[in-house]
Amino acid sequence: MATEAVDLFKEALSLFPGGVNSPVRAMKHLPAPLIIKRAEGAFLYTIDGAKLIDYCMGFGPLILGHRHPVVLDAVRRALEDGWLYGALTRNEVELAKEISSSIKSVEMIRFVNTGTEAVMNAVRLARGFTGRKYIVKFEGNYHGAFDYVLVKAGSGAATWGVPTSAGILDDAVKYTLVAPYNDVEALESVFRNYGNEIALLLVEPIAGNYGLIIPDLEFIKATRELTERYGALLLFDEVITGFRVGLSGAQGLFNIKPDLTTLGKIIGGGFPIGAFGGRRDVMSMVTPQGPVYNAGTFNAHPISVAAGLATIRVIKGGGVYEAANEAAERIANAILDSASRNGFDITVKRIASIFQFYFKRGDVKTPADVRASDEKLYLAFHREALSRGVYFTPSQYEVNFTSAAHSRDVVDETIRVIDEAFKALKTQVH
Ligand SMILES: Cc1ncc(COP(=O)(O)O)c(C=O)c1O
Repeated sequence: MATEAVDLFKEALSLFPGGVNSPVRAMKHLPAPLIIKRAEGAFLYTIDGAKLIDYCMGFGPLILGHRHPVVLDAVRRALEDGWLYGALTRNEVELAKEISSSIKSVEMIRFVNTGTEAVMNAVRLARGFTGRKYIVKFEGNYHGAFDYVLVKAGSGAATWGVPTSAGILDDAVKYTLVAPYNDVEALESVFRNYGNEIALLLVEPIAGNYGLIIPDLEFIKATRELTERYGALLLFDEVITGFRVGLSGAQGLFNIKPDLTTLGKIIGGGFPIGAFGGRRDVMSMVTPQGPVYNAGTFNAHPISVAAGLATIRVIKGGGVYEAANEAAERIANAILDSASRNGFDITVKRIASIFQFYFKRGDVKTPADVRASDEKLYLAFHREALSRGVYFTPSQYEVNFTSAAHSRDVVDETIRVIDEAFKALKTQVH
């Protein structure tokens, strides 16, 4: 690392816990985290002068790639008009229409600032609507950094070994039930025991915060059947999957209609946003129409809304999913090929433009399967790829994303690096 980076990280360490402002940005297997100067298309440029092919893509929002010209233009035009009004604007109506025309279960919506806020408000809403106390979440699913759901959580909480955060009162989580993911029988038993007191079942319909776990269709169907049977609401947390796995999200893929949906990431085009939406009778309970309070100085921020609207319109223009999905497919295949040629047991999971790989034999269907894979090898491979210019997601508990900017040339170069990285890994461990 160049002196500039070393000095800056030293300063950062004295100013920020762990030297960063969100835990997964710190990398336990590297002397320092990435320090970024700028980005373009599929590339990140570090202050050290390295050019990296990026498979993190801001942890998901950047499905068009960095600095997409249409988004840039929309943001510039929005800035010219002003950047905060504390009032209704045309663009937020347009964005809501784009969302609800694609995700049919979203009849009404409220824009907030992050995925965390979206889920937090959805929990309050479900309790207000049903008059019940309990919520049910799944082990390894991540729904943001707030008390009611930081129990056996994924993402940074899993990476850093604090799946259940300190500082959370027992009282705050005494109505949070945790069920194993992808296990129909266990879920049935939770509903048999607590069914009539459950306000909300929260689920990542494709789990993207404990690596990538693609659930069985019967499991997802069971979330709908059980909530319906017991009069609880069903929330699909589509903060990652919304507009990522298709225009209608995971609910479109599975053909399931949840009562509530949370969104974030892509619908802000890389700017801060979150949203919760769903059934009209439920959403009508939100202030000022109803008694369940939600408010925010920055709700539906004009710049985020402009960026999100531009992003969704580019997606709807066509070609984005084809490009991003093909890139992910080619990389997933290359990892599988190269790993086996070099004598590593590997499992690769992919859906659309999301993928992750695990140093283990056998399928990955549950968080326990992810934990059973060799994290040390993942991190060693990560280091080898990074030193050759490819930045995969820095934890096996996160996922990789491709974008429309991951062209065939970029993927060819990635495949070359994957092979070199596995060869280098082989000399270390075999
Ligand atoms: C499924 C899911 N829900 C909620 C969140 C929280 O969103 P945010 O980081 O915008 O608060 C995330 C973030 O990664 C997520 O993946």
